[in-house]
Amino acid sequence: MIPKLELRNLSKSFQTNGRNIEALSGISLQVDAGEFVTLVGPSGSGKSTLFNLIAGLLEPDKGEVWLDGQLQRERTGNFGYMPQRDLLFPWRSVTDNVAIPLELVGVNRGAARERAQEMLVHFGLEEFGGSYPSALSGGMRQRAALLRTILTEQDVLLLDEPFGALDALTRRELQDWLLEVWQEYSKTLFFITHDVEEALYLSDRVVVLSARPGHIVEILNVNLPRPRRPGMIARPDFGQQAAVLLKALGIRD
Ligand SMILES: Nc1ncnc2c1ncn2[C@@H]1O[C@H](COP(=O)(O)OP(=O)(O)O)[C@@H](O)[C@H]1O
Ligand SMILES: [Mg+2]
Repeated sequence: MIPKLELRNLSKSFQTNGRNIEALSGISLQVDAGEFVTLVGPSGSGKSTLFNLIAGLLEPDKGEVWLDGQLQRERTGNFGYMPQRDLLFPWRSVTDNVAIPLELVGVNRGAARERAQEMLVHFGLEEFGGSYPSALSGGMRQRAALLRTILTEQDVLLLDEPFGALDALTRRELQDWLLEVWQEYSKTLFFITHDVEEALYLSDRVVVLSARPGHIVEILNVNLPRPRRPGMIARPDFGQQAAVLLKALGIRD
């Protein structure tokens, strides 16, 4: 089977103030269609850089990105990307924010709004469609930003720490919501977090990056049944798998 997404030996350095900073080194990975893969790694290990390379916002020094068995040269627009500090435009209502990806591919404003409204109804957010982002809680804002990413209608979604700034309860709720969305829309998900528990709870596989220059030090096949349930984090095998990830991250438990 051809992998949905394949990274071949990606490396990237940055030149800043005359210094060469090697951010990523030799990243190779295959992700299957419909898989949920999460990337964890210390701060500065190149996680966001990797997503920028995949999405085509940055060019690698070396290596290639393949999608559906095709080498991606001009690849901007081929991935649904929610960057780490994704912002809703404050001057657009939630509906108009969610409609942006459709407008960007040339759907007219009215039709784009209609489709966005359907999505909001589908996700039980219709009462917020007319609100402006400043009126929403952090959890609602992240839901709207995620819906916007889903509406790009790309098979592969890149989500960079979408729940990083949320309180624990909201985070838990959005994790379950994301799992439902992932299954309903049969997306391939590549997700970043620095939270080991979140990585295990969500994923089929967890990829651990080393400190800079980031390279893959561990790939864990998560051994938990689906659908995932909050109680699973109390299982002994959950703790064992968390210990494997913490060890790979260089954190002793
Ligand atoms: N555009 C850039 N210019 C210069 N240095 C960068 C740039 N983007 C990232 N870096 C550097 O690359 C390293 C990896 O950054 P990043 O990918 O944001 O890490 P992470 O997301 O894992 O925290 C850091 O040292 C960061 O300062
Ligand atoms: Mg980052």
